[in-house]
Amino acid sequence: MDPRWSMETLLIHAGNEVVTAGPHHPTALPIYASTSYQVETPELLDQVMSGAVAGYSYARHGNPTVEAFVEAMVRLEEGESGIATASGMAAIDAAFYACDLGPSDLLLLSRDLYGASLNLAATVWGDSGIRVMTADFCNLDQLQHTLQVYQPKALLLEMISNPLLKVVDLPRVIEMAEAVGTQVIVDNTFTTPLMAQPLVMGADLVVHSATKYIGGHGDAMGGVVVGKRRYHDRLHQYLKLRGGVLGPFEAWLFHRGLKTLAVRFERQSANALDLAINLQDSGRFDHVYYPLLPNHATGAIAHQLFGGLGGAIVTLELKGGRDAVYSFIKRLKLVGSATTLGDVYTLCLYPAIASHRNQTPDERAEMGITDGTLRIAVGLEDPLDLTQDILNAAQ
Ligand SMILES: Cc1ncc(COP(=O)(O)O)c(C=O)c1O
Repeated sequence: MDPRWSMETLLIHAGNEVVTAGPHHPTALPIYASTSYQVETPELLDQVMSGAVAGYSYARHGNPTVEAFVEAMVRLEEGESGIATASGMAAIDAAFYACDLGPSDLLLLSRDLYGASLNLAATVWGDSGIRVMTADFCNLDQLQHTLQVYQPKALLLEMISNPLLKVVDLPRVIEMAEAVGTQVIVDNTFTTPLMAQPLVMGADLVVHSATKYIGGHGDAMGGVVVGKRRYHDRLHQYLKLRGGVLGPFEAWLFHRGLKTLAVRFERQSANALDLAINLQDSGRFDHVYYPLLPNHATGAIAHQLFGGLGGAIVTLELKGGRDAVYSFIKRLKLVGSATTLGDVYTLCLYPAIASHRNQTPDERAEMGITDGTLRIAVGLEDPLDLTQDILNAAQ
């Protein structure tokens, strides 16, 4: 593997070398559907189990198909160690564990995180004595004050907020976190390594819900954590003991998904930009959110950080309340309604009953989410067909 290869080349080839030793090897990654490995001698098994020699013993400790996917993600994020998990939530949980949070340590979360991430921290981690606090990561002065006063052990953010697509100035956040010794975890699900490589910017850990763009076809659930070498032992201990490992079939789908990620994601982003412009020009919505639209609150940072890509989410503010949104969704013929994103199919999600249902209306209002807010995860259909479908539904 040539260290100078570009992202596009790595997406096609990274990870393959894990299973392609020997004079005859398959072009495509094999699925190793075996829970255990017959190691030739007890001496060798002892060494493999201790980690002194690389090898496989039991699928919870390692599987070649899963390792190929992890290796590819480590290369793409330019990390040093990684694990694959059964879901994106398990990846976030593993990242918290990797940060070695102890009783009364403080975990700082971006207020605009995916709702379940907030709930995971508040309940599972909060119940075990971790203090949890939220902050607006787009308000850098306030964030700096919070970091200096409370000195959290770790923080978690997404670079593009869900669903209003506010962009966080990650290099500045990292600088401020480093100054007080706070570990930085970035959920890179919405951005993918094509828009941002947080570890290169200085973050400590990156997590993904691979269920989204990495898989891309709505048929596999999984997650990934990639980080610096010092997290290796705790990440692997998490998998071995908590056991939320990724299965080889899913790993195979994700590794295959990576090969088309650049093509899919760039086209989906271009479609999203076209759609956002068309819908804004229509004047039929109270607001159209897209990071690269000229009126976007954090557009300048998006242009600076994301190399011309804006991501594949467009969020609409519909006129009328919940009833109007329900009627709109029922009139859609091409855009589906499902609680996910990142697929080749365009899907809408109503945050008030899905991603943010556990927040009170007041909490949602504080985040800028109303009963008229609807998120569109743009797929690979023709943006003109999508525009037509959405405008027809917005009668
Ligand atoms: C940004 C983000 N992170 C994490 C998750 C959780 O991923 P999963 O559903 O694979 O557990 C999601 C799910 O929607 C998400 O949107």
